[in-house]
Amino acid sequence: MYTMASKHFAVLVILLLGATLTRGGAFVYPISNVGDEQIQSLGSFAVDEYDKRGESHLLFKMVFGGYVEYYGVYNGYTYHLDLMAVNCTQSGALGNYTAVVYQYTLNQKTTTWFGELKPKQT
Ligand SMILES: *[C@@H]1O[C@H](CO)[C@@H](O)[C@H](O)[C@H]1NC(C)=O
Ligand SMILES: *[C@@H]1O[C@H](CO)[C@@H](O)[C@H](O)[C@H]1NC(C)=O
Repeated sequence: MYTMASKHFAVLVILLLGATLTRGGAFVYPISNVGDEQIQSLGSFAVDEYDKRGESHLLFKMVFGGYVEYYGVYNGYTYHLDLMAVNCTQSGALGNYTAVVYQYTLNQKTTTWFGELKPKQT
């Protein structure tokens, strides 16, 4: 438990160096460690939760981008994940989706949004 907490803290310190502070008081930083198992498992979690709704069946592929909002120790992290998944309901079509996962302690998390990835505004 202690090692988990210190690892978490070390990651946080590194991430906050590249952060910007929003008017709402959140630190926002891009997900630079996109290949990390922790980030990938959050994407997998969001797809699992989507599948439980039973609307259509997606198969998680990978998270390839996104950003994190950090509100402080007690409010936790909001991950905005850009991910790829196969839509098994639509003859295996590969699609890009955005999932918003709110993690309020190390193991408590919930998906607050899941939908098609919106094309970037240019
Ligand atoms: C998957 O495909 C089905 C059938 O086209 C569609 O109704 C459903 O909305 C798709 N799921 C997602 C998450 O886009
Ligand atoms: C998904 O996003 C990636 C990275 O931006 C892009 O290369 C790929 O073409 C996109 N795939 C679809 C199906 O839109």
